[in-house]
Amino acid sequence: MTDAPPTDRARILTGDTPTGKLHLGHWVGSVKRRVELQRTHDCFFILANIHAFTTRADKPEAIREDTLEIVRDLLAMGIDPEGASIFLQSEVPAIAELTFLFAMLLPYNRVMRNPTLKDEIKVKNLGETYSFGFPLYAVGQTADILAFRPVGVPVGEDQVAHLELTREVARRFNQMYCGVHDKAEDDDHVAEGGVFPIPRADVGKVGRLVGTDGENKMSKSLNNAVYISDTAKQVQKKINKIFTGRQSATEPGDPNNILMQYCEIFIPDADRVAELKDLYARGADIGDGHIKQELGAAINELLEPMRERRAKYEGDDAYVIDVLKSGTARANALTEETLAMAKEACGLGFFKRSLELD
Ligand code: TRP
Repeated sequence: MTDAPPTDRARILTGDTPTGKLHLGHWVGSVKRRVELQRTHDCFFILANIHAFTTRADKPEAIREDTLEIVRDLLAMGIDPEGASIFLQSEVPAIAELTFLFAMLLPYNRVMRNPTLKDEIKVKNLGETYSFGFPLYAVGQTADILAFRPVGVPVGEDQVAHLELTREVARRFNQMYCGVHDKAEDDDHVAEGGVFPIPRADVGKVGRLVGTDGENKMSKSLNNAVYISDTAKQVQKKINKIFTGRQSATEPGDPNNILMQYCEIFIPDADRVAELKDLYARGADIGDGHIKQELGAAINELLEPMRERRAKYEGDDAYVIDVLKSGTARANALTEETLAMAKEACGLGFFKRSLELD
């Protein structure tokens, strides 16, 4: 693995909190796009392992294992660790330092109004029990992003609220410390002397994949996910369980139901999808069972090369750690530069420092 310095291509930053293995929702919502972007951009993919502690501080072993699993999943899905940098949030100190500075730029009530945070408190039933650190992760995510001064952040729909907060922090920092005018257009911030470009959220075509229950977002905790590491048999079994309520092959079906949505997303041949939808809507003697077979086969065709690649990394922790180490070294090279710029801007630029990984 090389420690090649980042090039001057436009940068992208995105990533995942290690709360379990990656599934099809991650693939369609974000990773597929990352695989494309790594050809044209300098890509940084964060493993937000510190954020994982905000809800699972009592499970450090599980967080560690999930972190390594996600690296295996990303490599399996086609992320090239020579081109893109996969790194550990916990080993990039500039992120933690910027988090503290940014926390001062956001009114407390503004952070708590973040709808993604509110939603999480509700869904995970955190009520009155969440830690002080939990809402801080929303501020932390602004630092994850801005430390890399990226042009864009490819994410699923649920992350858009975090991006809004990030854009606000960037604007405020540039205005407060870099002399950027109050009414400056987002695109003019850097030209006007701002440290941080105002990054865009780049939401994939399928921002939110419904799980196999047909109701909720695909998610580990809801038991409705198809994992990248599932066997072909497991995949078909999960697809077979999709419930449509349709009684027979001649009953007209809803061409927009979960089964048809999946066909649209996972069957690559658009003509065949159109044909299926038409037959389905007319109840033209096409059973759910048949469609599920065809859909399962298409998903397995997508996953098979991923399974093969993944098998290579399963027993090779040393390789996975090596990928993380070189990615983290590249992340530090860049974020130390950002931090120095930010410190300089807010009067904290006393001396230089250097960081090394061993
Ligand atoms: N909050 C994101 C999630 O749970 C993970 C994440 C952390 C992230 N930092 C980020 C995503 C920065 C994009 C950019 O999926």
